Amino acid sequence: MLSACTYDVYNPDVCFQENVLPIFVSNCTMSGCHNSNDRKAGYDLSNYDGIMKGVVAKHPLRSEVYRSISGIRPSMPPGRYPSLTRKEVSYIDIWIKMGAKNSTNCNGCDSTNYTYTNRIQPFLNTWCVGCHSTSNAGGGYDLSTYSGVVVSITKSRLMGTLKHLSGFSPMPKNANQLSDCDINAVQKWIAAGYLNN
Ligand code: HEC
Repeated sequence: MLSACTYDVYNPDVCFQENVLPIFVSNCTMSGCHNSNDRKAGYDLSNYDGIMKGVVAKHPLRSEVYRSISGIRPSMPPGRYPSLTRKEVSYIDIWIKMGAKNSTNCNGCDSTNYTYTNRIQPFLNTWCVGCHSTSNAGGGYDLSTYSGVVVSITKSRLMGTLKHLSGFSPMPKNANQLSDCDINAVQKWIAAGYLNN
């Protein structure tokens, strides 16, 4: 496939923490699926060790996790959920081919960039929108649009969930707390008036 080749060329260094883990967290760890409580088919896909139970490093086609999401009619995610995009599948393919390492913070933390368009929206799309889209708004929160994100701020629910404070449902649900770098970016953007910038 031509587009798969394109991703191969432009993304030789796929980072587990930044590019691969969020795909699993946002698409596979819903309640009843592959989290530490439910472990459907034996898989907890909310962390590196759990994902590696279905991965053979360097061999995507021998990796059950990869086989289930790729091919003409992938079996995962199941029918009622959207399929992974070609780009997401290709990230996982390349990551496995490169040795399936637990790589973190590969691109460094950019603490100066916290505009909605360049930092906050991509962050939410990566980690949250699988469970907080318009058609599947977990807890009633749609984080795929600016106005939806504003609702989570004006109700004072967003930062507490990211910081895993008591009295809040820790987010991303069923996964570890995200990096200080990401959480600080959201906090700075809110403190500066959460503009649609
Ligand atoms: C695997 C699915 C899933 C992911 C990923 C996820 N959420 Fe949630 N979220 C939910 C569900 C379901 C609820 C409803 C409350 C509950 O079940 O805990 C919820 C509730 C919330 C709430 C309200 C919680 C409260 O205590 O009032 C906020 C805010 C929220 N999520 C933000 C986020 C953010 C930000 C991210 C990404 C960093 C995220 N969520 C990722 C499923 C998810």
